[in-house]
Amino acid sequence: MRDRIVIIMTMITVLVACSPKNGEKITGKTKTDPFIEQLMAKMTLDEKLGQMTLYTTDWESTGPTIRSGYQDDIRLGRCGALFNSHTVEFTTLLQKIAMEESRLKIPLLFGYDVIHGYKTMFPIPLGEAASWDLAAIENSAYIMSKEAAASGLHWTFAPMVDITREPRWGRVMEGAGEDTYLGSRIAEARVRGIQGENFAKADRLLACVKHFAAYGAPIAGRDYNSVEISERVFRETYLPPYEAAIKAGAKTVMTSFNDYNGVPASGNKYLLTDILRNEWGFNGYVVTDYTSINEMVNHGVAKNQTDAGIMAVNAGVDMDMQSAAFQEKIKAGINDGRVKMEKIDASVRRILMLKKELGLFENPYRFSDKKRETTTIMAKENLDASKDMAKKSVVLLKNSGILPLAKKPMKILVAGPLADDKNNLIGAWSASGEGRHCVSLYEGLRQHPAAGNYSFEHIKGCEIEGNDQTQFSIILEKAKTSDIIILAIGEHKDMSGEAASKSVIRIPGVQEDLLKALKSTGKPIVTVIMNGRPLILNDVHSNSDALLEAWWLGTQSGNALADIIYGDYNPSGKLPISYPRNEGQIPIYYNHKNTGRPLNPNDKYTTKYLDVPNTPFYPFGFGLSYTTFTYGVPTVAKSTFSSQEPITVSIDVRNTGNFDGEEVVQLYIRDLVASVTRPVKELRGFQKVMIKKGETKKVTFTLTKKDFEIYNQNMEKVVEPGEFHVFVGGNSDTQNKVSVTLQ
Ligand code: NOJ
Repeated sequence: MRDRIVIIMTMITVLVACSPKNGEKITGKTKTDPFIEQLMAKMTLDEKLGQMTLYTTDWESTGPTIRSGYQDDIRLGRCGALFNSHTVEFTTLLQKIAMEESRLKIPLLFGYDVIHGYKTMFPIPLGEAASWDLAAIENSAYIMSKEAAASGLHWTFAPMVDITREPRWGRVMEGAGEDTYLGSRIAEARVRGIQGENFAKADRLLACVKHFAAYGAPIAGRDYNSVEISERVFRETYLPPYEAAIKAGAKTVMTSFNDYNGVPASGNKYLLTDILRNEWGFNGYVVTDYTSINEMVNHGVAKNQTDAGIMAVNAGVDMDMQSAAFQEKIKAGINDGRVKMEKIDASVRRILMLKKELGLFENPYRFSDKKRETTTIMAKENLDASKDMAKKSVVLLKNSGILPLAKKPMKILVAGPLADDKNNLIGAWSASGEGRHCVSLYEGLRQHPAAGNYSFEHIKGCEIEGNDQTQFSIILEKAKTSDIIILAIGEHKDMSGEAASKSVIRIPGVQEDLLKALKSTGKPIVTVIMNGRPLILNDVHSNSDALLEAWWLGTQSGNALADIIYGDYNPSGKLPISYPRNEGQIPIYYNHKNTGRPLNPNDKYTTKYLDVPNTPFYPFGFGLSYTTFTYGVPTVAKSTFSSQEPITVSIDVRNTGNFDGEEVVQLYIRDLVASVTRPVKELRGFQKVMIKKGETKKVTFTLTKKDFEIYNQNMEKVVEPGEFHVFVGGNSDTQNKVSVTLQ
């Protein structure tokens, strides 16, 4: 029987064998072509294991340093891909070693963490997610890829699509927040932006969906910690964005550091083979995260690196990042039969096919073109796109009416340690971005056309960290003679990102004391916070007259903020994650279950705290505008539908304020009675619409069967008939609903 399968498979292989030209898509089950097969026939086992090996260069460090001598590795065919090497000059130098000094002259693949910009920096991904603007997010991903591809790179370790309910986890800045639906749409947009249709113009990169899986759910928010979630939560909340990214065509996947259900991801066959390949049909290659094969020894599931390597390859890993386990250790397993040669061949084939799809066999230097590098990097259109994205990412959290600033003569005191900062604005994971190219808030305010109305003074007042309050008396004197204070406070860029978890998520140092002191002058204060994670903002909110969540906005930070502060752009961002009232509420997220004892403030024996409300300080989806929007009641054509029928939900949204503005109209559902408990709300749609002042727009959503699917008690995906509430409003707190029944 097995032989017959092999014969049939061979016939299929021959039938589908084709040689995708540079730029052509590899689709479906096409897994081989004659060129690659001929090449593989010439490869020694060491050379094959070399193709399955990814090493860092010594240019930059994004993890522990464990080995040196990567140039010799290239010469000897011991590694087929490198990361932390970029620029045309350096990639050309390394590629030359592969093409001129290695036996088989297989081109190298160059990867890098291009997360939210290569040189032109865009807002951090959490900030971009706050825009809810998929076209802008796709464009930002395209531009970062275009710049990176012009600088010799082929592959980015992005998008990170890990859903997280953990503001303590530093990497919250790198994802799209807490929601599965929003996160999935953003994952697709970023994959489309990074990879495009094909690599014909050498202006796109291979995407790498990470970190598979559930890296965003570390216990207690501590980076690299174990994950303990049920299969239901895993499948409902954490898995969909990875699947969405893969269905959008992502060519590579990175494993996560954590274990899932007791098995570290890099050795987890259930994740890497059963789900990824068999359920989802993924046919690209899987790379591990940094040294995560070796770390399986620490996890306690492998005795040594050899066993760890064997476990990884058998689970479905194709490429080993930095462990040197494939290249140096797993031969023992191949010799004693613990690893089948077909496994190795399949991995090598997947990797070589993507090198071919990139066009590297035709021209190994096609991404390393000096002229293109010079004209592409930081081109005006890239800076414009960065500014556009930055404006769209800002969330207005409070406004007493002070913003936008009146266009009349005023003395503005620009204060705070981040007011004239550039280096932090590029944010964590800033690839080859440089602070010196950033426009600070202070610069942005002064170089804006509206600046002529005002006079400016800048004093820091304090540092980001530390207890020094010696500048307070000077700044308070200045404040007294100013008309308005714009205060920029927040986090240093290293305070969020990898290995940057915190148990206290407040604005550090004496920055909040500075705000309080300035408040005592009675002058109006516009506070701009620059940060990588949700923070506890209770006091910041009450001490500010206006509050802007500005994340780390990238190269154009100051220009974007000036447009908002002066009113050229009406803020439209909405929070992609809940902001807690204190750390004890974490994890806090809008799509929680009702429980058997839902909150009743008058009943002691219901689910609540004695010392803090159940609600977040700012809910998911929240964000203000300079105008106001009034929602009508959502309507449907009838109240009962078959589960096969699309349901159209319409609502009138009226701009009732004095400014034109964009509103993110959000649709949530609730399944009232099901065979398993369901969240009180689940996002199922959103639209960002521009509505002119005084105008009403009808916004229409179409819900289909997929939107109502749940995993039943047997973990089968089904639609269960019954009543659903469909809510439509401006944030996840909305109670504006219509009821529909599915038959
Ligand atoms: C470790 C990080 O977890 C991962 O996201 C990154 O891509 C690699 N290091 C490479 O820098």
